[in-house]
Amino acid sequence: MEVARIWGGERLNGSVRVSGSKNACLPIIAASLLTSDKCIVHNVPRLLDVMTMVDILRELGAGVSWIGEHDIAIQALKVRADVPYNLAKKMRASICLLGALVARCGRSRMPRPGGCIIGDRPIDLHVKGLKSLGCNVDDGDDYITVIGERLHGASIDLCGQYGSTMTGTMNVIFAALCADGDTEIINAACEPEVVDFCHCLCSMGASIDGIGTSRIIIRGGQKLHGYDYTVIGDRIEAGTFLCAGLMTGGELTISGLEPGLLGVFLTKLLDAGADICEHHNGTLTTRPSCIDGMKIVTGPYPEFPTDLQAQLCSLLMLANTSSIVEERVYPNRFLYVHELNKMGAGILLRENRAHVLPLERQLIGIDVEATDLRACAALYLAGLIADGTTTIHNVKYLDRGYDGFEKKLQSLGARVQRETV
Ligand code: EPU
Repeated sequence: MEVARIWGGERLNGSVRVSGSKNACLPIIAASLLTSDKCIVHNVPRLLDVMTMVDILRELGAGVSWIGEHDIAIQALKVRADVPYNLAKKMRASICLLGALVARCGRSRMPRPGGCIIGDRPIDLHVKGLKSLGCNVDDGDDYITVIGERLHGASIDLCGQYGSTMTGTMNVIFAALCADGDTEIINAACEPEVVDFCHCLCSMGASIDGIGTSRIIIRGGQKLHGYDYTVIGDRIEAGTFLCAGLMTGGELTISGLEPGLLGVFLTKLLDAGADICEHHNGTLTTRPSCIDGMKIVTGPYPEFPTDLQAQLCSLLMLANTSSIVEERVYPNRFLYVHELNKMGAGILLRENRAHVLPLERQLIGIDVEATDLRACAALYLAGLIADGTTTIHNVKYLDRGYDGFEKKLQSLGARVQRETV
């Protein structure tokens, strides 16, 4: 089993380029199933979830080859509609194949994605959307089977208990592309990753209006062709490095992302007094700063991203005053708090709210356990400022969503390494 060891206390300085966005890249790869033409994807992050998606596409019959360090070519001349159990179970994001396969094959079957360590992740909105378009959906205990040979446009509201759903919106868009007539999605997800996905589909010949708003109109029946598309940079990775720069008091320059995509995350940091300089070329540089505590509430874009909640909590331990962090997308996404508290943090949890108190003394490096991808990133950040050695168990979670994280940290001066124990 692999662990990560971090020897804390180094200031991070230098430049880092963020990789392509995981959550944009996965559905963009899935979009290649909609055509038998060749599709080229650039800026592909080399991370575990992407490798799993590539493996699934190969199992489904597509030819996939790496044509550069971060570039893949996909050609799906023939496609099977059954997603293999072992691969689909590895990754929750495989759910977006449901709509892509219906669009290509008229049916799809895949193992039901189970609950997840970050909390309940239902698929009722996916099912509702596909049914509204005329699909027959069997949402069984083990498998979900969708049959949709003659789909029709519809008006669908995708608002759930906690707001919109990214992968649900993408599934409905996929299926709507092969329906007769137009489809309107109300309360569609507006995240930059959904925007990027829609832009890729448009480059294939799709006609989608309202991209980036909560009301999207998809014209059905357009003939789609291959694409040559570059994925946007990963805003969550950029946010993680911003936290690392501010926490270690270094001058860290981040490139590879249009800073506007950081939205409220960046605004909140600047309002709290973080010294972050935005250069003309779109790069961002952190400088040593004292920040104030803040109140944040996570929610669907443009609200505060849940995928940066854990990393922000790590940073807020260093604020002058206390902070309140409320999680409204996955109310239980706080399993990492127990680990931070073991290191000496003072974070009080009440239901879906964390009360982050300023550190009274330096964190201590100990053995901690990662519980999900973003929790693991938060523990890394804590390790960077801890006294002594922090050992993170279950570090494999990190590889699902960060490309070359340790290498990047090492290049900035951090003392981190992987070890097999
Ligand atoms: N929801 C429903 N019904 C549904 C679907 C979702 O009520 O049918 C609710 C969920 O309970 C949750 C919210 O809607 O409160 C969003 O959840 P969902 O599971 O749909 O999220 P997702 O679209 O599958 C994507 C990202 C996640 C990210 C969330 C929220 C991908 C592959 N994953 O998931 O990324 O946290 O949106 O922004 O795009 C991560 O990268 O660490 C990660 C977990």
